[in-house]
Amino acid sequence: MAISFANNIFTLQAKNSTYQMKISEHGHLLHLYYGSKIADKDVSYLIPRVIRSHESNPDEAGEDRVYSLCAYPQEFSSNDAGDYRIPSIELVNTDGSYSFVGKYKSHKIYSGKYSLSTLPTLYANEGEDVETLEIILEDAVTHVSVKLLYAVFAEKDIITRAAVLLNGSDGEIRLQRFMSASLDFMTSDFDMIEFFGHHYYERQTDRHPLTHGINEIGSFRGSSGHFHNPFAIICDKKTDEDIGNAYGFCLMYSGNFVFDAEMDGYSQTRVAMGIHPKQFEFHIAKGDCFEAPEVVMCHSAKGLSKLSHSFHDIFRENACKSRFVHSKRPVLINSWEPFRFTFDSEKLIKTAEISKKLGADMFVLDDGWFGERNDEKAGLGDWVANEEKLPGGIPALAERIHAMGMSFGLWFEPEMVNENSDLYRAHPDWCLRVPNRAPSRSRHQLCLDLSRPDVCDYLINAVNSVLEAGSVDYVKWDYNRYVCDVYSAYYPHDRQGEIYHRYMLGLYRILDGIIKTHPDILFEGCSGGGGRYDGAMLTYFPQIWCSDNTDAPSRLVIQYGTSFAYPICTMGAHVSACPNKKTKRNVPFKTRAVTAMHGTFGYELDPAKMTEKEMADCAEYTEFYRKHQELIFGGDYYRLSSPYDESIFTAWEFVSKDKTEALVCAVTQDISILDKNCYVHVRGLEPDALYKIEQTGQTLSGAALQNIGILLPHTQPQYTAFVFELKRLNT
Ligand code: GLA
Repeated sequence: MAISFANNIFTLQAKNSTYQMKISEHGHLLHLYYGSKIADKDVSYLIPRVIRSHESNPDEAGEDRVYSLCAYPQEFSSNDAGDYRIPSIELVNTDGSYSFVGKYKSHKIYSGKYSLSTLPTLYANEGEDVETLEIILEDAVTHVSVKLLYAVFAEKDIITRAAVLLNGSDGEIRLQRFMSASLDFMTSDFDMIEFFGHHYYERQTDRHPLTHGINEIGSFRGSSGHFHNPFAIICDKKTDEDIGNAYGFCLMYSGNFVFDAEMDGYSQTRVAMGIHPKQFEFHIAKGDCFEAPEVVMCHSAKGLSKLSHSFHDIFRENACKSRFVHSKRPVLINSWEPFRFTFDSEKLIKTAEISKKLGADMFVLDDGWFGERNDEKAGLGDWVANEEKLPGGIPALAERIHAMGMSFGLWFEPEMVNENSDLYRAHPDWCLRVPNRAPSRSRHQLCLDLSRPDVCDYLINAVNSVLEAGSVDYVKWDYNRYVCDVYSAYYPHDRQGEIYHRYMLGLYRILDGIIKTHPDILFEGCSGGGGRYDGAMLTYFPQIWCSDNTDAPSRLVIQYGTSFAYPICTMGAHVSACPNKKTKRNVPFKTRAVTAMHGTFGYELDPAKMTEKEMADCAEYTEFYRKHQELIFGGDYYRLSSPYDESIFTAWEFVSKDKTEALVCAVTQDISILDKNCYVHVRGLEPDALYKIEQTGQTLSGAALQNIGILLPHTQPQYTAFVFELKRLNT
């Protein structure tokens, strides 16, 4: 049993980690422990019995001045009851008070994985050992209760949490903050690692010590966003890739979120994660529920690589039900970077023909194929092919592409509308917009109001009818602005605090209505590159376009940051032309190809403009990628060096689960490699086994490869790429 309950203690045991909670003598649920596996049945001794002067003591504690909600570690913190740290919940009760104190009422343990009815969650595979714990905490005065949900994926060292509020009070309450999970540590000697950025610069890695006060990241842009990813790590200061404690928290939600790590005056730490409370106020009628999204948590005692392996495994195996997750993905060529809005059928066909010869499997027509979409200013919303560019529409083009033996993909941005579109002219009230105020536009577009059921129904039909008519094999689902003016004409003025979240509920309903009815279409997520790269999106999309920045050196950093939580098989990565459109940098073809093999490989260039040498390279690397796709997608991934370190190269590695083969990749970043001896230290191999390196002809032990490393050739210019294929010899 992964979950047990005895003597008022809940213990959750995963393969290498333990999570423990206790119902206190007064009914509060205390958080005791999360960390390396321990067998102890009760570690409540870790709570010091000291009087914290000035802290309040609940009435039921009587004369006991030690018992204080602010000093004791809480599992779900109360509000307005003497715990001054970040609360798990804020609400306005029917009597106008803000109080909530949850006390243990009941619990349930069962095998299998809980799910939520309104939000995406991880799932358990058939036969997989997953257990669920549900604990109900109730406020004894208002009868508002909270169901805390826990699932233990024991083998994967993953614990998920979610929470459901049930309004058992005598009328409507207003929920203003509802965290999915919070966790108290009695100490605070931690670093926080977060992933920040902006468009073209996603998931940059920032590691810094926790400071007193609240260390916060989040988004209130209406999407998880480019600026902060809904994933963060708390770790020991000594933690590196191989050693030390690390805790990862990933929110399964694609909208506004917050992650707080609060260090209080006693130098204790509280971590909380959930929907961002800004402009959030949900009215909950008597008897109704509200679900908070799931948080996926992992503890690793063996550093950051192990933490990433656990997240990669769970996202690969328990997030998305699409059959494409475990199948080989097509090598695609995308029309956006080479052609933007300027193309016609003949140009596209010619491009597809050349790409086919170079080894591509699929041609993807990006933006510009519909309505009057000849630039960014018009057409969004009108999902009908532009017959001037594409006579016979999508079915005719798809047929010609299919006739070449290639599959065909299409771009959509269903959530958006241009004012210059038939959709907007017919339904100006269908977008988010504050009455009597001119809207803020972004990329000349407005955001449709997905909190409206009629808009959701329309979009499901509009996209499905294109898909059904046109033999589409792949869809790129884009989302290219942040929202503001968040007001829905559909809801009364006092319900506007619900719109951000209702938008997400609408989006998930649309994705269910389109993606689940097309199991044979491969869907790729996108949001101005990687602006909505999160766990919830991964339940729908087996792959997500990582960034609009296709410059290889920039991608090394973006993909490095993305790899802390998200598996390589989810990262859309393409080779583009040089000089790079954004950075103007020139990088050898091989370097661009090796960098794009860190994901779902493809091309984003005009093959008609390639030199003969580039064409030969293109065919060669496409083949090389195909040969290794299984290893790249299914193996354990190691960050061998960081692009941020002084190190003069960035290296990474894929090791098959059975350790019989590995692929090591490196790109030099600094010209000082001209004179310095550089060794790539390979990890994750059997130390005693012998491995043959295809490219050098050497045979070395796993131990030598780890401790001495592979010597990189000298005298290499900046941005030279190397690959080393390692095969274990039979002994
Ligand atoms: C976004 C995407 C790009 C491309 C354009 C089209 O920026 O990230 O890949 O699809 O939109 O407008």
